[in-house]
Amino acid sequence: VLAFLVPSDPDWVRRALHDLDEILVDHAHCEKKAASSALALLFRYPERLELAFALTRLAREELAHYEEVLGQIQARGIPFGHRVPAPYAGRLMTAVRREEPRRLLDSLLCMALIEARSCERMRLLAEAVPDPALARFYGGLLRSEARHYRTYVSLAERVGPRTEVRRRLEELARHEAEVLARVSAMARMHG
Ligand SMILES: [Fe+2]
Ligand SMILES: [Fe+2]
Repeated sequence: VLAFLVPSDPDWVRRALHDLDEILVDHAHCEKKAASSALALLFRYPERLELAFALTRLAREELAHYEEVLGQIQARGIPFGHRVPAPYAGRLMTAVRREEPRRLLDSLLCMALIEARSCERMRLLAEAVPDPALARFYGGLLRSEARHYRTYVSLAERVGPRTEVRRRLEELARHEAEVLARVSAMARMHG
């Protein structure tokens, strides 16, 4: 998906497989959060119709994913409830610059990186989970997340020039890897 996304620590898959129920519960919350973050941008920038058209669709897809993950959770009889999220996204977003239009540009690129990381981790799960139905499930989802990554990057390209977007994306990708490396080892999609 992303040439300069720093690959995950291989230990993450081992930990994820060890607590797959917990990963599914966290994953459901991540899908819901992805929809809510897309909507938050629509509240902050109502005048940008290009965001509205792209992100209403994206938010609907994330909600559909949320429903699908909940279905997997229910089918497996896993108890569902509130979880403390990984500090990953919050820390990633600390790199967002304050003044517009940089604030929007950075927000879109951080969202792109979250999608890229989710996509990478779903690919790792698709390759490693022993349950073939669950492996297929992840294989199906990761294609949407790759598309969401591209949606966010192309929205960013409507805010700033391509070269500036590319430069900032590389910078934020390095920041993302540092944030991820410092997140404590909990059973989370971004843990
Ligand atoms: Fe999703
Ligand atoms: Fe997504």
